[in-house]
Amino acid sequence: MVERLSIPMVDLKAQYGRIRGEIDAAIARVIESTAFIKGDDCVRLEKEFAAWCGAKAACGVANGTDALTLALRAYGIGPGHEVVTVANTFIATGEAVLLNGARPVFVDVDPITFTMDPARVEKAITPRTKLIVPVHLYGHPADMTAIGEIAARHGLPVLEDAAQAHGAEIGGRRAGTLGHAACFSFYPGKNLGAYGDAGMVVSNDAGFVERVRQIANHGGGASKYDNVVLGTNSRLDTLQAAVLRVKLRHLDTWNRERRERAEAYGRGLADLPSVALPRERPGARSAWHLYALRVKDRDGLRAHLEAQGIATAVHYPRPIHLQPAMAAAGGRPGMLPVSEALCREVLSVPLYPELPFDVVERIAAEVRSFCGAAVARA
Ligand SMILES: Cc1ncc(COP(=O)(O)O)c(C=O)c1O
Repeated sequence: MVERLSIPMVDLKAQYGRIRGEIDAAIARVIESTAFIKGDDCVRLEKEFAAWCGAKAACGVANGTDALTLALRAYGIGPGHEVVTVANTFIATGEAVLLNGARPVFVDVDPITFTMDPARVEKAITPRTKLIVPVHLYGHPADMTAIGEIAARHGLPVLEDAAQAHGAEIGGRRAGTLGHAACFSFYPGKNLGAYGDAGMVVSNDAGFVERVRQIANHGGGASKYDNVVLGTNSRLDTLQAAVLRVKLRHLDTWNRERRERAEAYGRGLADLPSVALPRERPGARSAWHLYALRVKDRDGLRAHLEAQGIATAVHYPRPIHLQPAMAAAGGRPGMLPVSEALCREVLSVPLYPELPFDVVERIAAEVRSFCGAAVARA
């Protein structure tokens, strides 16, 4: 009898166990200093994370959604403007556009990498288009070279939604430097995750980053009560910055460990005709935030894995152009066939740096046993 597993999608306790001493010391240091807002760790994290990405500047904000929303404000996006983006993403990508009073124009994604299909972008551009926002889904970078060429022809900036892509690369350059600016989320389960909410805007354009900083801190001027533009409070707090600084020191190792596990899945699931595995575009390196299989009988496979004690998740069950919250964008079923099919067929299996290799093999064996049997039944 094969033992029933209990495998979560992510295991943040296991991660904490590896760095407990460093984390506890960093948190204690912030509490001792009482510099809970705009403390030294905030300034240092911005410098360290920008350098890690290979970018010139960064501004910490309260979460990844705010990173996008405030970046759009810093571009001056507002009513009457259009932003070309994708629907196969987390709702925040679209929220940022609508919250600024602009209209998201959704284009379909490439069926291999599930990221923005550059062939669709040009047709979506109108005189109202002000910005292009590709999403590096599951950690795989969108085709920024092709998208960048189209954007340059039309004089448009490209903002990376890099919420899932800390360390994703194209041609040796990291997310954060692949467009005009990039927005990161440090939601706890991300490759670099805080112990709460946090986010960051990264760019080589230091002036742009300062505009974001101003908006994120009550439109601040030279002093605290000098409010020169309409802003908000979206600061990254010092406790989160201290946690993130500790974790950033381990991120290269953790990303390597994610890749090793993704490769182990690839070996364990090779030659299974009914399962499409994630693949990297030549020249691109995924940050392997998620490992999503594409299977016709997704719900059957999901039930099978869950019955063995293997957690799974669907990213995402509904494309955002069909979310009621996005109704103002005018999305209709059938408009984005690839994105809509993916929502019916993708299944994320556990992937995190501490996931034991024998468990990866066991999960792969369970997928094989279900999908192999499905082929035999067909
Ligand atoms: C693609 C994408 N964009 C934006 C966000 C928003 O980030 P946050 O949850 O930190 O607000 C997320 C977070 O899950 C995301 O996955």
